[in-house]
Amino acid sequence: MNIQTKQGNIQNSNADTIIVNLFDDVITPSGATGAVDHALDGAISDLIAAGDLTGKMGEVGVIYPRGAMAAKRVLIVGLGKRDTFDLEAVRQASAAAIKHARALNGTQVASIVHGAGVGGLDVETAVQATIESALLALYTYDADKKKEPSNAIETLTLVEMDADKMTAVENGVKTAVATAAGTILARDLVNMPPNIATPQKLADTAKQIAHEHGMKLIVGGRKWAKKRKMGAFLAVAQGAGFKPKFIVLEHNADRDELDTIVLVGKGITFDTGGISIKPSANMGLMKSDMGGAAAVLGAMKTVGILDIPLHVVGIVPATENMPDADAYRPADIIKASNGKTIEIISTDAEGRMVLADGLVYAANYKPKAVIDLATLTGASIIAMGLDVSASMFSNDAELRGKLMAASDATRERLWHLPLWEEYRRTIDSDVADMKNGGGRYGGVGTSAVFLQEFTDYAWAHLDIASMAFTDKNKGYITKGGTGFGARLLVQFLRSWP
Ligand code: BES
Ligand code: MN
Ligand code: ZN
Repeated sequence: MNIQTKQGNIQNSNADTIIVNLFDDVITPSGATGAVDHALDGAISDLIAAGDLTGKMGEVGVIYPRGAMAAKRVLIVGLGKRDTFDLEAVRQASAAAIKHARALNGTQVASIVHGAGVGGLDVETAVQATIESALLALYTYDADKKKEPSNAIETLTLVEMDADKMTAVENGVKTAVATAAGTILARDLVNMPPNIATPQKLADTAKQIAHEHGMKLIVGGRKWAKKRKMGAFLAVAQGAGFKPKFIVLEHNADRDELDTIVLVGKGITFDTGGISIKPSANMGLMKSDMGGAAAVLGAMKTVGILDIPLHVVGIVPATENMPDADAYRPADIIKASNGKTIEIISTDAEGRMVLADGLVYAANYKPKAVIDLATLTGASIIAMGLDVSASMFSNDAELRGKLMAASDATRERLWHLPLWEEYRRTIDSDVADMKNGGGRYGGVGTSAVFLQEFTDYAWAHLDIASMAFTDKNKGYITKGGTGFGARLLVQFLRSWP
């Protein structure tokens, strides 16, 4: 879908479908909706009076103008209650409206900016939310299926009456298109089957981003990792058929004056559990175990498009976790690249192993902050609920605050959990510096304190196991890979410091 902007009155638009909006309990529409109502000789007011249109969140009313204006149809989307109105309401309204337009076979769609007029939101962020959500709501993954060609919206034109707002509108569109592109890349990578989304595929994706945006790229194989003593990453990779890749993508590599932020993404392209094998029911979901890597690569793509003025490093330790004659096993003792030893309790606790060497490697860049994202534990899903929130851990209050602000702005939810000493004790080992599992209780906390052993900088860990993959369409979140984390990281980086 192509995005355009236009200054003018939406009732004069030559689109086949126009979208306006309505707050809950409004009796006489005002602003752009009022102007359209007027052009339709009060047809919107009539629908409201008849009780057929209430303005409740996500409701979509349709009016056929029959020659009163050029458009074939007018969609009026509900914005919900005025006192709870926010950017997320804009996203939900925009998603509902654009999906309705697609269902009615609209191809040229014009819309007002939700929330910038009567809603009183900042114009640029309202535009960003409107467009980002429309692009994400229409996302489908159908690379591997022969399909009937379904209706596709060709153009979405944002129409703004006020000439003074057009610069803000343009800026909001740019940010939205770039951010949606990164999120869509993340969704695609998660949705690809694990025989396609291999470590090599992640490396090729990084290569493409590096090529398009002039980034520096390192792709290390087994030999490269061995030279750097990455025993934890290599242990997981021991049983893998597809060759492991340690990927480092660097934006503004030669700009010493810029602050450095490192993003580390768990890139387990398929998690069978290894020798500690998982039950076969739903094992296919473990194709999403590179959701952290997908979010990091997606964010890097957006960083490139927007040319964010920071030194950003994306690190993705990528491998599958397979049972094999060469696979690592429970009771093995493994040495990570910082020299710390790990007693293997379960080969299914592989995410923390590959992240350990990823986090140690991050220190090479003297970072101002390091954020890792990982589909790390089932315990995080138990704690936070599916499709509700990710868990966040951090050793730095300022970094935590900045991530929380990005979470509020994007509605990619995080909830802060503690790195308490008691959790560390659960991974004490008799034979090594630590164990890779701490038993049944508090599993999200034990995994986080394990990771902390490999950090010596301001650091945050986001366990996104509950958020990376969903089995239902909801608003602008589509079934399958969600791209969770990409928008959050972009917002965080754009707001730095
Ligand atoms: N990738 C899984 C965690 C996971 C589970 C993500 C379900 C998404 C949905 C991870 O590698 C894992 O297996 N974790 C174990 C850790 C345990 C063995 C200490 C878990 O959570 O059970
Ligand atoms: Mn596992
Ligand atoms: Zn895993």
